[in-house]
Amino acid sequence: MNPTGTQANVDLRGRHFVTMQDVSPAELTEILDTADRLKADVKAGRSHPVLAGKTLGMIFQKPSLRTRVSFEVGMTQLGGHAIYLAPSDIKLGARETTEDIALVLSRMCDLVMARVFGHDVVADMAEHATVPVINGLSDLEHPCQILADLQTIRERKGTLAGLHMVYSGDGNNVAHSLMFGSAQVGMSITVVTPPGYEPNAAILADSRAIAEGNGCQVNISNDLMEASRGADVLYTDVWASMGQEDEAADRKTVFAPYQINADLLAVADDDAVILHCLPAHYGEEITYDASRTPNSAIFDQAENRLHAQKALMVMLGAD
Ligand code: CP
Ligand code: NVA
Repeated sequence: MNPTGTQANVDLRGRHFVTMQDVSPAELTEILDTADRLKADVKAGRSHPVLAGKTLGMIFQKPSLRTRVSFEVGMTQLGGHAIYLAPSDIKLGARETTEDIALVLSRMCDLVMARVFGHDVVADMAEHATVPVINGLSDLEHPCQILADLQTIRERKGTLAGLHMVYSGDGNNVAHSLMFGSAQVGMSITVVTPPGYEPNAAILADSRAIAEGNGCQVNISNDLMEASRGADVLYTDVWASMGQEDEAADRKTVFAPYQINADLLAVADDDAVILHCLPAHYGEEITYDASRTPNSAIFDQAENRLHAQKALMVMLGAD
């Protein structure tokens, strides 16, 4: 064991988590195992103030419920403190350079989390910060979400390798991080989108290269019913992401055939786990009824943001 309580061969201290590619399959598994241990501690009433005296700076360019609350509660449970910096507080991109923000926060905080529009902003932050930087969602990736998703699937299915996930909707930040995460754990994924909304081509190629080494596949499709036959996991996200509000009306028409509903559940595996990163637009990407079936794990998934990110902060931020 190393000082973070994790396996001796896994040491993430001082590292950034900007993309799923920042962790190896072994490191990802260790984050999930640590998340399970921390969750068991919380459920058993055992405290674990392993980040006592440490501070997380949280920068938000976009709104948030889960990300803000899970990081803030997570730091409290770990004995540390989190500072919320709203878009109007530091005016990222307008008041001073990202480099200077990173350098200043590094002098006072032990960890930095940033939710941004352009992925280059959080990448720039990581380049200049001298403390770990965590991507709390960018237009390209949402890696913290995928830690919680994988923890949730493993809780329900007991395993990840060998499963088949179908993601239906926009080829967006969540889809991109899911493609990497699935490939890393040996779970095949089919990303089903309307024509023209497929995921980023470079991420498709890079995640396929990882999948090849882990005995699984990353596929794309435009045919949701066909792709979902026998699926173990059905996942969706909003059709218009934060920053795409002006496209929302047009997208409702284009994406209508890509809804998770009773017809789709009928073709997936009987035990298929239903996931949604939330916030949800019921009646659009998922029906309310589908979200409330016993197969739905969407609120476990939301809760696991807390446990998974605590594991991440412990592993990146411990002395
Ligand atoms: N899933 C997620 O990141 O939720 P928030 O946007 O509320 O943080
Ligand atoms: N794709 C969504 C995820 C929200 C958690 C967005 O970026 O708005």
